[in-house]
Amino acid sequence: MARHVIAPVDELPPGTRKFLTIDERPIAIFNIKGEFFGLLNRCPHQGAALCEGPLIGLAQSSDPGEIEYTKLGEIIRCPWHGWEFDIRTGQSYCDPKRFRARAYPVNVEPGSAVVKGPYVAETFAVSVESDYVVVDL
Ligand code: FES
Repeated sequence: MARHVIAPVDELPPGTRKFLTIDERPIAIFNIKGEFFGLLNRCPHQGAALCEGPLIGLAQSSDPGEIEYTKLGEIIRCPWHGWEFDIRTGQSYCDPKRFRARAYPVNVEPGSAVVKGPYVAETFAVSVESDYVVVDL
């Protein structure tokens, strides 16, 4: 699994999302109350751009007339047919056993761990073989 640097944390404040393509896969990165999550931007139902839908909460009821609204801003509703998925896990609330959005792990790391720098030029190994200078790319 290759690591990909997405953005400085400051560019993705809580409640926002960032769309990008990694290895030809459309992915959205969400900041949910300071925690980061990645989701494939393709609905497992019929392929809509899932992550362009609204962020909502989860309405649950244990008794008739009693509705509890939880997970505010942690559920994404597909813009095509309204199926709902948990951003933290990709779980569908329409058909949890058959449909799940692909979730990706996202970490926050100090800049020094992802960028050697500042201003480090790319270098290549150069050696001398017989009378020739050889570079390894
Ligand atoms: S394509 Fe997403 S709910 Fe149908």
